[in-house]
Amino acid sequence: MKILMVCLGNICRSPLAEGILRFKAKQRGLNISVDSCGTSNFHVGSSPDKRMIDIAMKNGIDISKLKARQFNHLDFKKFDIIYAMDKTNLHDVQSLARNNKEYEKVQLLLNDPSEFISLDVPDPYYGNEKDFEFVFKLLDNRMNKLVENYNE
Ligand code: 4NP
Repeated sequence: MKILMVCLGNICRSPLAEGILRFKAKQRGLNISVDSCGTSNFHVGSSPDKRMIDIAMKNGIDISKLKARQFNHLDFKKFDIIYAMDKTNLHDVQSLARNNKEYEKVQLLLNDPSEFISLDVPDPYYGNEKDFEFVFKLLDNRMNKLVENYNE
């Protein structure tokens, strides 16, 4: 299974989501490959935000070598699921889809139709350390569910 995580800048939320999922999938020996990107080109080529690198490292996950890139159309072909961090990212990627198959690959990460829940991972970029910690916990929790429910 090939999974793509998408946010706006690809320096805060999606690289962390990528790092956490890769870590948990490896721990459990799951056949999941994961990448991340941004809808914008604001930070192309940059490392993740230092505050995100630090909180990941504190939890044993190294995201320091990742480099930001922008979503491009080939990603619809390369990935099975494209998870958007918030509804703006969701709509931005959905609007690039050229057919139903591509459109249906794009999902909101914090979406649980059985609970009628559809939430954004808040953008911590202009926030403080607490906001980064919150995003870590939110993504850590979501990735636990993802690997627990994973079947090939
Ligand atoms: P991300 O956070 O989308 O989680 O990577 C952001 C990073 C940079 C900006 C916005 C959000 N920015 O406006 O530069």
